[in-house]
Amino acid sequence: MAGALPLEKLHRAVIFLGPPGAGKGTQAKELARQYGVPHLSTGDMLREHISQGTPLGAQAKPVMQRGELVPDSIILKMVAHRIECPDCTDGFVFDGFPRTVAQAQFLGELLKQHGYKQPVVVHFAIDPALLMRRITGRRMCKVGGEIYNIYERRTKVEGRCDNDGGELEQRPDDREEIVGPRLAAYAAQTAPLVAYYKRLGRLRVVDASKSVGEVTKQVLEIVRGAK
Ligand code: AP5
Repeated sequence: MAGALPLEKLHRAVIFLGPPGAGKGTQAKELARQYGVPHLSTGDMLREHISQGTPLGAQAKPVMQRGELVPDSIILKMVAHRIECPDCTDGFVFDGFPRTVAQAQFLGELLKQHGYKQPVVVHFAIDPALLMRRITGRRMCKVGGEIYNIYERRTKVEGRCDNDGGELEQRPDDREEIVGPRLAAYAAQTAPLVAYYKRLGRLRVVDASKSVGEVTKQVLEIVRGAK
């Protein structure tokens, strides 16, 4: 949780990098709430397209069901369009983007063009043995998207969101048989970004195996202290 002092304006992108289930979405929502900036989850954007039945959603759906990455061309257009929105002026928190070196290069150019400060990149380092339980135990609110877990983060009333009473659901790609391909896609296409951002001197690391509250503290310390 934030201390008593108000946080300075962000004016930059914060990028959360880490495997599926590491806790990026949970922390991105909290950080965005504390700074009053949007939480930009490319996974949520794609799921929204799917639920609205858009052509983009129709392209993305089978790819996501296989646990693979959606093509860069689709993602880059979606992100470029989103950060043009007026609510992004003071910065934003990315969760699940960038996920390939091509996406990271594109984002670097985009941030420069828009005059943002250098991004803060937070790597969620975690023992892979924890991921299956976190992913298969996850439940999300159908209304506000709040994230829970049947093992680790239960709701007060079973199956109902604590914030708005919305029904909880399991993501279709959180089934055990899809987790393997998702982790493989992370290892092959996204993990190289750790070295990429390290080379650029932007990488910071949190121990994502800790409790939600402890990880929030680590993230806030990094973001507040970022140059
Ligand atoms: P996306 O929606 O981005 O999913 P992901 O990256 O696989 O990450 P997750 O949402 O699974 O995990 P998380 O790290 O956010 O964990 P969470 O906080 O929820 O992507 C889905 C798909 O969309 C991809 O497979 C791909 O097809 C496509 N896609 C999206 N972006 C793309 C892109 N840029 N390029 C190409 N394709 C793209 O936490 C997990 C669980 O653990 C929850 O139940 C939570 O309550 C619990 N938890 C969280 N933190 C803790 C903690 N510290 N201790 C205990 N439990 C915790």
